[in-house]
Amino acid sequence: MAERIPAVLEQEFRKRLSFYQDIGIELFYRDRSSRQHANLTEEITLPKPAQKLQPAKLTVPTPLPAPKLNVLRRSSDISLFESMNKIAGDSLPKILADIGECTRCKLHRGRTKLVFGDGNPKAELVFVGEGPGRDEDAQGLPFVGRAGKLLTQMIEAMGLQRRDVYICNVVKCRPPENRTPEKDEVETCSPFLLRQLDAIAPKVIVCLGSVAAQTLLETNRGISHFRGQWLDFRGKKLLATYHPAYLLRNPSAKGEVWKDLQKVMAVLGLQVKKGQAPGKPS
Ligand code: URA
Repeated sequence: MAERIPAVLEQEFRKRLSFYQDIGIELFYRDRSSRQHANLTEEITLPKPAQKLQPAKLTVPTPLPAPKLNVLRRSSDISLFESMNKIAGDSLPKILADIGECTRCKLHRGRTKLVFGDGNPKAELVFVGEGPGRDEDAQGLPFVGRAGKLLTQMIEAMGLQRRDVYICNVVKCRPPENRTPEKDEVETCSPFLLRQLDAIAPKVIVCLGSVAAQTLLETNRGISHFRGQWLDFRGKKLLATYHPAYLLRNPSAKGEVWKDLQKVMAVLGLQVKKGQAPGKPS
């Protein structure tokens, strides 16, 4: 006979489901192979569905397209991103409205301004950074501090303007003292990044630094293992390169980044203009 799950667990489960619904996930599959679930009874009975949990939404699984395996992730790992369907008609304003005055993770406590993203909503090229720093938090715009100035130079060296591309981050609120965002913060915020990327549907995604790369590729491998290589992200070309802040500390790595950006330029059909020194950004 089916057993009810404990009330506390049920409440947690409800909260988690409604969060997933907020971020656009409406279909759920049980992973029968996971050892984590081995101690649960074979069938989980949910209490009578409340308004938000209409069974119709949960029971009609649309087949997902066969996922392209990400070479960096073990094929047995569960991928949140692959399980998220594209939301038909999604747009940046809708995503921003869904984020709202976000308090979903602890980063909201130290926030001045949420930094959603900036640039061309139809960009062929999207840069993804880690999270806002002090200047970004103050202005509500991504990459406007020192690292941002270098990113702007990099974009211009590619023959583009900032307004031609889209720039955003894994987390939308500044981590205290610019620390690396923590796992729960990334997990809470990155589904909105995924929606942004789906809505923009760029040709190329450039991950700036390991947090962006590891988040989108769902890997723990260090960026040096795959920097400069073309990888797949939900059918889009993704390339990871060093973060501009790293370049400020290690200017000798600029040459490698410039080589990476030239690969991106080749895919986008961009050429270094004649008469303009093709050299790497200074
Ligand atoms: N570093 C980031 O990763 N993102 C920003 O927006 C600014 C600095």
